[in-house]
Amino acid sequence: MKAVILAGGTGTRLLPLTRLLNKHLLPVGKLPMICYSINSLKEAGITDIMLVTSRHAAGMFTAFLGSGQEYGVSLTYRIQEEAGGIAQALTLSQSYIGDETKFVVLLGDNLYEESLRPHLDAFAQQQDGAMVLLKQVPDPERYGVPVFDESGSITYIEEKPSNPQTNSCVTGIYMYDSSVFAFIATQSPSQRGELEITDVNNVYASQGKLEYRHLTGWWTDAGTFQSLHEAAIKMMDDEP
Ligand code: G1P
Repeated sequence: MKAVILAGGTGTRLLPLTRLLNKHLLPVGKLPMICYSINSLKEAGITDIMLVTSRHAAGMFTAFLGSGQEYGVSLTYRIQEEAGGIAQALTLSQSYIGDETKFVVLLGDNLYEESLRPHLDAFAQQQDGAMVLLKQVPDPERYGVPVFDESGSITYIEEKPSNPQTNSCVTGIYMYDSSVFAFIATQSPSQRGELEITDVNNVYASQGKLEYRHLTGWWTDAGTFQSLHEAAIKMMDDEP
């Protein structure tokens, strides 16, 4: 399976640091944030990785990561000229994904403690559709929050709801079949002018094809000063 890491964006919640450095290059413990995504994918057996980032940051990513050889992966780069949302960034990977029937997308600011391998294996067994990984959090209003039917299936994801129906959130890993690109093509920009990944996931949900699994290990979206700080402490503590 191939993977796409999305590492663009403006990182406004981390200003002024992100005026200097792309969010995904900020240090988390001893490593730039991006290394944790690459390590997670590699540990799960994925070595063909496309990194989507901004024009401004691309040179620093290539200077640091190069071809990926040093890290045991093969990296391909794509430039997102303008911040147009997660789903828009994903469209840039369509030719890279090519004939692959399934692939995985990781938001580069999401850090996972547990192995992604069992989840990817489960998705590989899934006939078609998509899969997301959920985590119980104290502040679901910051995230996409699933709404379930009586049978436990996801019927809908509410993006940053003011009254979340559960305390689970959708974390930044999305496993898709190749129909995702056709679904994105039907989307319109949201009120903030972006193609939202939650709208894409809701197409799968409306077809009853959005599966999910629960994360048991520590997880964070290191996109705020508080979560970045917590992630750094966690990563330093976990250092063997
Ligand atoms: C994005 C998604 C959201 C998800 C989150 C995970 O939010 O839109 O559904 O829960 O990533 O990190 P963003 O961080 O872009 O606000």
